Amino acid sequence: VKTLIDKKLGGPVNPAIRKEESKVVDSLDIEDLGNKAVFCRCWRSSKFPYCDGSHNAHNTVHADNVGPLIIKKKE
Ligand code: FES
Repeated sequence: VKTLIDKKLGGPVNPAIRKEESKVVDSLDIEDLGNKAVFCRCWRSSKFPYCDGSHNAHNTVHADNVGPLIIKKKE
């Protein structure tokens, strides 16, 4: 079986979150987001899909620059 690992793709993006699922999909109602919601894009958060700040340690160890997606209402 050929894997998807190559020079461009590297290894899996998701190292540990809900690996028992064939695809990690989250659905939220926009009305439930409140005034501000911060979503993880580094796949290291213990509160995934929300950011818990774990991207900071990841960036330090791996010389990376990933950060969250912040959605907020206009003031
Ligand atoms: Fe993943 Fe913050 S913990 S972006």
